[in-house]
Amino acid sequence: MSDIAAPNINENEILIKVRAISINPVDVKTRSGSAMAKHLSEYKPLILGWDIAGVVVERGNSVENFNIGDDVFGLINFLGHGKGYAEYVAAPADQVAKKPSNISYGQAAAATLAALTAWQLLNNYAKVKSGDKILIQAASGGVGHYAVQIAKYLGAYVIGISSSANRQFVIELGADKHIAYDLEAFEETVQDIDIIVDAFAGDNLYKSLKAVKRGGIIISLLPMIGWDILEKAKEKNVTIHYSLVKSDGGGMKSIADLLARGSIKSHVSGTYPFSQMKDAHLSVETGKTIGKVVVTV
Ligand SMILES: NC(=O)c1ccc[n+]([C@@H]2O[C@H](COP(=O)([O-])OP(=O)(O)OC[C@H]3O[C@@H](n4cnc5c(N)ncnc54)[C@H](OP(=O)(O)O)[C@@H]3O)[C@@H](O)[C@H]2O)c1
Repeated sequence: MSDIAAPNINENEILIKVRAISINPVDVKTRSGSAMAKHLSEYKPLILGWDIAGVVVERGNSVENFNIGDDVFGLINFLGHGKGYAEYVAAPADQVAKKPSNISYGQAAAATLAALTAWQLLNNYAKVKSGDKILIQAASGGVGHYAVQIAKYLGAYVIGISSSANRQFVIELGADKHIAYDLEAFEETVQDIDIIVDAFAGDNLYKSLKAVKRGGIIISLLPMIGWDILEKAKEKNVTIHYSLVKSDGGGMKSIADLLARGSIKSHVSGTYPFSQMKDAHLSVETGKTIGKVVVTV
């Protein structure tokens, strides 16, 4: 931890006093030298973090949609330098939304990168519609637990995969069917799926390709998509997209509406004070956390 001056804001930005931050696998990977580390290496000091919720304390001259005192949340400058692990963050006003009053700062911070990933992949890439049959891998994780709820909201029939230990959690999110990967190989037991959210990429895509219907869609959360799997997918007329989340105030507004109505909820399984950021990272690093991990400021 170190003390630096609060950032100056541009005319299109707001200054947010941060109350909660959420931690993602990309934070952990970047901290340990992969993911965004190379891309951000030119920034000194490099401040990790993109997911924040807090209070507007200053606004730029051209900002009209937020006032000082508003509670806001958002994914800040992703794929750039978000500088989220800080007491004050300068955020473009078109990347945040007002925090619904029925949820805490922690629940709001949780519903930024992970929720936006789910929102963007289901709407922009998969274009999910009522009646679609969708299979979601890592359904008990950060992205997965929002994806199950949003896909249900969009009217899909949802199959969620997690370990058997998290079966009840995935069913309570609204999944119509659960598959425990420690008891069952999904590619042997389900087929003709319209849309698969593949959380692992690489060789796992062969399993997804087996389960998806001819002409279906696989959305990969990771970029490891080999030429061989793309060739095999062509034979089945299957499209494989790599969906990479981007900061998006419009998407955040949609998520805020769903949270306000109770159509989706953030499940926060771990909350740490800022002084225990290391423990929050170690927890996410296990790859076994349920829902989201949050740090309060
Ligand atoms: N492309 C993008 O824009 C984007 C955005 C966000 C995240 N991601 C990537 O997507 C992946 C998931 O992110 P996340 O934030 O959801 O991660 P996460 O919260 O760390 O996911 C943890 C969950 O994964 C489940 N899991 C682990 N192994 C599994 C398996 N073999 N089958 C099914 N579920 C399994 C665990 O459930 P069990 O304990 O039951 O095993 C746990 O609940 C990460 O690799 C992340 O980097 C990509």
